[in-house]
Amino acid sequence: MQKVDLKDKYLKFFEGKEHKIIPSAPLIPENDPTCLFNTAGMQPLVPYLKGQVHPLGTRLTDVQKCVRLTDLEEIGDKTHHTFFEMLGNWSLGDYFKKEAISWSFEFLTKVLDIPIEKLAVTVFEGEGQIPRDEESANVWKSMGIPEERISYLNKDNNFWIAGEVGPCGPDTEIFYWRSDSPVPQKHDPEDERWVEIWNNVFMQYEKHPDGTITELPKKNVDTGMGVERTVAILEGVDDNYLTSIWKDIIEKIVEISNTTYEENPESIRIIADHIRTAVFISADYCGIKPSNTDQGYILRRLIRRMIRHAKKIGIDLESGFEKTLALMVIEKYKNYYQELTDNKDVVLDVLSNELKKFNRTLEKGLREFEKIVSHLNEKIIDKDLAFKLYDTYGFPLELTVELAKEQGIGVDEEGFKQKFKEHQEKSRAGSEQKFKGGLSGSGEMETKYHTATHLLNAALKIVINKDVHQKGSNITPERMRFDFTCDHKLSEEEKKQAEDIVNKWIQEAIPVTVEEMKKEDAVKSGAECMFIEKYPDIVTVYSIGDVSKELCGGPHVKNTKELGHFKIKKEEASSAGVRRIKAILE
Ligand code: SER
Repeated sequence: MQKVDLKDKYLKFFEGKEHKIIPSAPLIPENDPTCLFNTAGMQPLVPYLKGQVHPLGTRLTDVQKCVRLTDLEEIGDKTHHTFFEMLGNWSLGDYFKKEAISWSFEFLTKVLDIPIEKLAVTVFEGEGQIPRDEESANVWKSMGIPEERISYLNKDNNFWIAGEVGPCGPDTEIFYWRSDSPVPQKHDPEDERWVEIWNNVFMQYEKHPDGTITELPKKNVDTGMGVERTVAILEGVDDNYLTSIWKDIIEKIVEISNTTYEENPESIRIIADHIRTAVFISADYCGIKPSNTDQGYILRRLIRRMIRHAKKIGIDLESGFEKTLALMVIEKYKNYYQELTDNKDVVLDVLSNELKKFNRTLEKGLREFEKIVSHLNEKIIDKDLAFKLYDTYGFPLELTVELAKEQGIGVDEEGFKQKFKEHQEKSRAGSEQKFKGGLSGSGEMETKYHTATHLLNAALKIVINKDVHQKGSNITPERMRFDFTCDHKLSEEEKKQAEDIVNKWIQEAIPVTVEEMKKEDAVKSGAECMFIEKYPDIVTVYSIGDVSKELCGGPHVKNTKELGHFKIKKEEASSAGVRRIKAILE
C-alpha cells in the first residue's frame, strides 16, 4: 500500500489554478444556530456564495473539518466516520462548468493517475425551471468520457442543497469503479461498486422558505471530495480504516487491547473514530466541554461510547490510553489545524476528566444493566430503567440502546425522552424558583444589566468581528459578566471602543421592543440566539432599535437611556477561544 498525500496534492493543484488556500472554519458553525456542526465545506462559505465579497478573491480552496451525526449509528462499519475532512474548491462568480469539470478531470487522471476507464459521471436531468444539464454532459464528453458512462438523474440525486433553504444548484457527481471485476461499459447508478468520489455543484440558485427558487447574483461552483473515501480508493482498500490515515491508530488500539482487528473490527473502529472526533471537537476554539446539551452532549456521548468499547476489548481504562491515542491524532493533523497545538492540554484534560467521571460509574452501571436484563419480562427496557441508567450511572440513552441491541432487547426511547423532559422542566422550575427567591427575580438593576448585555454583544460584533457570539452570561445586582467567542485578548483600544459604542447607544435613548414569533422565523430574521434547540416553538425576540435583535426571555428596560453609564472593569480568558468581560453600570 502506498501512502497518498491527497490533501497536499489537492491544495497545490488548485493553488496552481490561482485559488487561494483558506484555513478550515471552526467545526461549530459561526452564523448558523440551527446546526450543531459544519457538515460540508461550503457551509462556512454561504454568505460568499450568496454574493458577499470574500477578502481573498473569487477562487478559494480548502480542507474543511466536518462532523456528521446522521452517520453516528453506522460507525463501526468500514466506511462511516463522525468526523471527516472535505476537500473543496470554489468559484465565487468566477469560473463555471467548463473549467470546474475539466480541472476535476485533470486532477483525477493526471495528478492522481486514475484511469479514465474507471470513471463515470452523473448530471441533472432537469425539472421545472431548471434545465437538463447538457452543458456539463458536453464538457465531460469533450474530456473523453463516453456517452454510456454519463447518467442523467433526478433532483434527489443531482440537485444539491444543504438542508431546506439557501444556495443550491444542479451537480455533477464523479464515480469510480471500486471492484476487481471488469468495468462495465455502461454506468449503472444502482450498482454500488460505482462509488462517488467528487461532487461539483453549480450553485446558481437560492431556495427560499416559501419554496421558490431564484437566481443568485452570481454563478458559483462548490465542489466537495471526502478525504477518507478517496484515500481508500487510491490506496486500493475497501475499508477506510485500513488506509494510511488510520493504520497507526488501529495498530495501537490492537496493541493495548486483548483482541485483534479481525475479531473485533466494530469496537476498534468505534474507538478510533470517536477519539478523533472528540479530539477535534474539544480542540475547536469554541471551547466545547462535555455536558448534557447540544455539542457538549455529543462530545460526552462519543467519549463515553469510546470508553465502553475500550472496556469491552480489554483496554485498561486507567492506563492513560485516551491520552496516547489523542496525542497520535494531534500529531497526525497538527500541520493542518493550529488549534490542535494551541489546545492540546485542553483536549487531554477533557478526555481524562470525562474518562475519570464515567469510569466511576461504568462498572456499576454495567452490572445494573445486566441485572435489569435478567429480570425483564418482555424484551424491552422501560423508561424508568433507562432513566435510572442515565441519571445514576451516566449512561447516555444511546449507550443503553446499543447495549440492549447487542442482546436483542429494545428500549422505550420515546418514554425516556418524555421522562427526561419532565425531569428537565422540574429542575428548571426549581432553579427559576431559586432565582426568584434569591435575587428577587428581575430587580431593577438586573433588568438594566440584561439590556446592557445585549448592547455589549452587539458592540463587540462591531469592534472585533461579526462572528463574536455569546457563550454565557451571569448577572447580579452589582455587575454583569459576559462570555463570548474571541481568539485574542482585547486591546485597551478595543475595550474602549466597545465601551464608547455602548454608551453612545445609551445616550441615543433607543427604545427596546419585544415581539413573539415562530422560532424558525426568528432565526430567519437573523436574530441572535445561543442554543436554538433549547427554545420553545414560539419565542420572544427583543430588539433594541437597529442595534440588536436577540432571542431572549427578558426582562429588559423600555429604553436604553435608563441604563446610566457603562464601564468595563475587567477582560480575561474564560476558556480556549472564549473571553470574559466584567462590567458595571454607574
Ligand atoms: N456541497 C457539496 C457536498 O457537500 C459539494 O461540496 O457534497
